[in-house]
Amino acid sequence: MTRELKNQPARLLIAVGLTLACGVVLRRPAQAADAPPAEAVILTPRAGPQPRLNGARVFGLRPGHPCLYTVAATGERPMTFSAEGLPAGLALDPCSGRLTGATTERGMFNVRVQARNIRGTAQRALRLVVGDQICLTPPMGWNSWNCFAGAVTAEKVKAAADAMVASGLIQHGWQYINIDDFWQVHRDSTDPTLQGPHRDAQGRILPNPRFPDMKELADYIHSRGLKAGLYSSPGPWTCGGCVASWQHELQDAQSYAAWGFDYLKYDWCSYDDVAPRGKKRTLDDLKKPYLVMRDALRQQPRDIVFSLCQYGMGQVWEWGAAVGGHCWRTTGDITDTWESLSEIGFSQAGHEPFAGPGHWNDPDMLIVGLVGWGPQLHPTRLTPHEQYTHISLWCLLSSPLLIGCDMTRLDEFTLGLLTNDEVLEVNQDPLGRQAARVVQEGEGEVWAKDMEDGSKAVGLFNRGAQETRVRAPWSVLGLQGKHKVRDLWRQRNLGEFDGPFEASVPAHGVVLVRIFKLAS
Ligand code: GLA
Repeated sequence: MTRELKNQPARLLIAVGLTLACGVVLRRPAQAADAPPAEAVILTPRAGPQPRLNGARVFGLRPGHPCLYTVAATGERPMTFSAEGLPAGLALDPCSGRLTGATTERGMFNVRVQARNIRGTAQRALRLVVGDQICLTPPMGWNSWNCFAGAVTAEKVKAAADAMVASGLIQHGWQYINIDDFWQVHRDSTDPTLQGPHRDAQGRILPNPRFPDMKELADYIHSRGLKAGLYSSPGPWTCGGCVASWQHELQDAQSYAAWGFDYLKYDWCSYDDVAPRGKKRTLDDLKKPYLVMRDALRQQPRDIVFSLCQYGMGQVWEWGAAVGGHCWRTTGDITDTWESLSEIGFSQAGHEPFAGPGHWNDPDMLIVGLVGWGPQLHPTRLTPHEQYTHISLWCLLSSPLLIGCDMTRLDEFTLGLLTNDEVLEVNQDPLGRQAARVVQEGEGEVWAKDMEDGSKAVGLFNRGAQETRVRAPWSVLGLQGKHKVRDLWRQRNLGEFDGPFEASVPAHGVVLVRIFKLAS
């Protein structure tokens, strides 16, 4: 944020300097139907003291496998939690709100979850689906790559877990703490913290000295109410040159499960060296390594989200789910520039038929906050408008949301971007639809997503460098007659509209609304 901060009002500098501890609430007076202003203004209203239940409203788990679902709720503490309608074997801890245990009862359970504090009570339905499907809403969490890359350590991962809790992000549905590349021993690094035996005498993978105890690390993450993720490649080496899973797939899956990991990102990279050569690569060649690891993961007594990473080769969105992927990267790596963000984000049009509960298109991780891919970090080079566009678009796309910044140094603006429950609800909607582009006129685009309750989440985007008006006609949204329009970033009703809804959208900015039928 350095560049933006130079021209920012003093109040923002104060807020960033004092961060959370000072409790400064920054909001400019609300304006109807217009976009976030150019300066880094926090639009997300601060959560109130009364309980509010957030996060996924549908959760899938396999019979007999250990469950961890932390009820996300904002509001004053202490807070107590209860649940009615749980299958045998699962129990909700009244103090932490953690749902744990294991159940062998297959089926759909409509659980009534309650959160209570001195200010009141909130209730909500949680649909628990015990069966073969997991990852029924896009995973939300953190991944080490966009900030630390090859400089990741177990301490930094634990600090990220601590920060997920201390910042309150966990109370908005953020769950995963994922280690990316560089927890394994490196092929040829001269850094002693990356050296060591690759595997033990039985062939089991060994972490590098920065990760002395993988089980202890996963236990630590779980003890914070969060889930743990890690990374490997089907080739002999990861993209960064560390030991990967080639010819050890089953053993590696066993290690991940024994350590207690809940998420695997599986990155093609050096599989190029062992994949069939001398002929054009077939679709079967592309699928093969993912089928091998899928089968290895399926044999484990643990639910492990399987995240495919192969940058979209062979139109992976068409077959990612068939090879067991819960999500699959559709593009190359993102970086913190408008060019990268807009090229990746807006090229997702047409992928919407392939997303749904349990299988998601993944346009890569978030690039807000302090990022840097190594020891040196810098504030994202995206402008505030571009950051609102980023989060709005990724929510509309039902993309996995993986925070890529140093969470121990979250500023208020970034926190505002990541804690807007009405915006996050667009991402976590149980229907699991991905938005389609319904208008493309000049630099203006409208993307719309059907929500489970019959409403529509609609983003009006401006890809151009000049402010422009963007129009969302009822005809393209499939609407007729009067509707209620709500500004999601400001969490404020804008009134009734008889179509179209239009707004002035600043350069690289967005207006994100939800359009509801009027109560009859
Ligand atoms: C690839 C992936 C990134 C990251 C790195 C790690 O580039 O696309 O997301 O996992 O590898 O080396």
